[in-house]
Amino acid sequence: MKTMKDNIDSTKLPRRGFLGLTAGLAAMAATPRLLAETEEKSGTPGAAKSPAPGRRRLGSLEVSSIGLGCMGMTNGVYNPPRSHEEMIPVIRGAVDRGVTFFDTAEIYGPFTNEDLVGPALRPIRDQVVLATKIGFQLEGNTWNYNKRNSRPENIRRALEGSLRRLQTDHVELLYLHRADPSVPIEDVAGTFKELIAEGKIREYGLSEVSPATVRRAHAVHPVAALQSEYSVLERVPEAGTLQVCQELGIGFVPYCPTARAYLADIYNEYSRFAPEDRRSSTGFCTPEALVANRPILQLVREWGVRKSATPVQIGLAWLLAQDPRIVPIPGTTKLHHLEENLGAAAITFTAEELAEFRAALKALPVQGVRAPETVQVDR
Ligand SMILES: NC(=O)c1ccc[n+]([C@@H]2O[C@H](COP(=O)([O-])OP(=O)(O)OC[C@H]3O[C@@H](n4cnc5c(N)ncnc54)[C@H](OP(=O)(O)O)[C@@H]3O)[C@@H](O)[C@H]2O)c1
Repeated sequence: MKTMKDNIDSTKLPRRGFLGLTAGLAAMAATPRLLAETEEKSGTPGAAKSPAPGRRRLGSLEVSSIGLGCMGMTNGVYNPPRSHEEMIPVIRGAVDRGVTFFDTAEIYGPFTNEDLVGPALRPIRDQVVLATKIGFQLEGNTWNYNKRNSRPENIRRALEGSLRRLQTDHVELLYLHRADPSVPIEDVAGTFKELIAEGKIREYGLSEVSPATVRRAHAVHPVAALQSEYSVLERVPEAGTLQVCQELGIGFVPYCPTARAYLADIYNEYSRFAPEDRRSSTGFCTPEALVANRPILQLVREWGVRKSATPVQIGLAWLLAQDPRIVPIPGTTKLHHLEENLGAAAITFTAEELAEFRAALKALPVQGVRAPETVQVDR
């Protein structure tokens, strides 16, 4: 009988199917509505294989160059929560296709996302890198974005809960989800350092903190990864965060790397998002911004034609090309989207192409994104 381990090893076989797949998708990308309809109809899991992603490093951890963000599977911010029966095949299907890096958090649900990811990965736990995030004050099953808690006892409480739900005795990467203004970051890094010594985590990371906070934490114990929003559209980390990561050798994990599906080219000025959809409160997803930012999407589409790739693939490949320590974690609930996203790993840019892309981007105003100075404060 073929085991999941056999499937993982099979991803090392020669790459195949990529050009045909991407050329076809690129052609469809010219007509976004057709693309969306065709995906719905042709979404046969496992039908078309993208090449396995390569490997990159976050501190001492080796991870697939593209990870899988699991948040949207259960927390209802993009779609209604999906069942374990629907999502476990997506998570295990990602492993079959070479993904080894999985992202979740205590507050996704809360708890329900870790409840899904743990059992999904348990049979192959030793072959994957699990990342979760803590740092909020939970009151029963509720949490509030403004109520942070990075005190050592809360970090330890949260980690114990995460380990229980993830059905494991350690995680490879534990992030502080958001900074707590009442606890010095040195104390947080000190707690993470203790947890590493105890074998409960292998590495630690931070999310959406300022370059100064990264430096202070790194001085206590090396930070393996910083996770912040970064895409072709939302480029605020370029105002200082990426530079500090490059200087200190810290990995960078872009979340929302498809700009919350904007780069999938499936929205227009008539698109509206339900109140529970996080895009209903996203600056670049208002009807006005969807129109105003159209030239950026057009640029991405043009590069897609040049490289026989879809706009999402260009968006992800562009991130990968910015620095070898960048590991995007697109979120999806669909295997055919996952395969499309993994196709980005085979797209390369020369230095001249990157410069050309950058020059074109610089000439285009962006609406609804964060101002450069916001990068200097912990969010
Ligand atoms: N540190 C933080 O504060 C933070 C914040 C937000 C997210 N995250 C993490 O980062 C991960 C990724 O961010 P995200 O999920 O918010 O944003 P994202 O990956 O940019 O976008 C997710 C959305 O894009 C769609 N999508 C993905 N691939 C697609 C494709 N090839 N074609 C069409 N649509 C596609 C998904 O829908 P389908 O399901 O239909 O594919 C989903 O609606 C999350 O899962 C989470 O683990 C971290």
